[in-house]
Amino acid sequence: MALQNTLTRWGWPAKLLHWVMAVLIIGLAATGVFMANFTDWYYPDMLEATTARVDLTQQHKSFGFVVFVLGCLRILWRWFAPVVPGLPYETPGWQRIAVGMTHYGLYVLIFILPLSGWLMSSASPLNDADAYPAQIKNMVFGLFELPDPIAPGDRYLAGLFHSVHVYAGYVLAGLLLLHVAGVLYHHFILRDSVLTRMLPFGGDR
Ligand code: HEM
Ligand code: HEM
Repeated sequence: MALQNTLTRWGWPAKLLHWVMAVLIIGLAATGVFMANFTDWYYPDMLEATTARVDLTQQHKSFGFVVFVLGCLRILWRWFAPVVPGLPYETPGWQRIAVGMTHYGLYVLIFILPLSGWLMSSASPLNDADAYPAQIKNMVFGLFELPDPIAPGDRYLAGLFHSVHVYAGYVLAGLLLLHVAGVLYHHFILRDSVLTRMLPFGGDR
């Protein structure tokens, strides 16, 4: 598999980053909704539900941090390998604009989601040792602690970034739906190489 992108196919670093991040982000969104809303329903025992919620949230923060780091690598790679496959020649102008805006939006969300999650968790009263002696720090896989840009215990900012995190999640779901619908339209209706050139061993067809 080639390293560099060309005008007709993606190189392996772009493919690897795209698919690893897609799996992580979709997994984070699904487990995020579960841990924030359904643990009490899934675990009838309250202690079990709280433990599961805390454990899942710490895993969520850790994988969210990985998304942020991979996002930085992806932007760097996009910068150093700026040639990317173009849309098929006959694609109408409005579709080119829609695709550009969707991709741009997805790139922005790759950063807004982890950053809002980090700021919300930093400001959270649960991270404030004075108010909550069992303090839940923001650990990454139990290995190191994320710094706190906001002093823990700021309910207003915790609420604000929580809202940003949740609404960014809704926007992500909407853009992802458009993104996948567009790709499937190219693959099954227009029958071009837009999907296959992004697949692990796919190229032009
Ligand atoms: C791409 C990365 C991420 C995605 C897609 C994502 C998505 C989500 C979603 C969909 C929820 C459920 C919201 C709700 O229904 O209330 C959630 C909750 C949460 N996320 Fe994330 N998240 C990401 C990264 C992070 C990071 C990096 C952190 C912290 C360092 C974080 C901290 C949290 C916390 C603490 C909650 C629970 C909020 C609550 O209990 O209401 N997230 N996330
Ligand atoms: C949260 C998950 C996802 C995110 C954040 C995401 C993001 C992106 C972005 C930003 C691009 C543009 C790349 C660039 O121009 O640098 C792209 C391309 C692409 N994505 Fe996704 N994607 C996700 C999930 C998916 C899924 C589930 C599919 C499967 C249908 C898919 C199929 C593709 C394909 C085929 C391309 C290449 C389009 C082309 O060559 O013109 N993506 N994706």
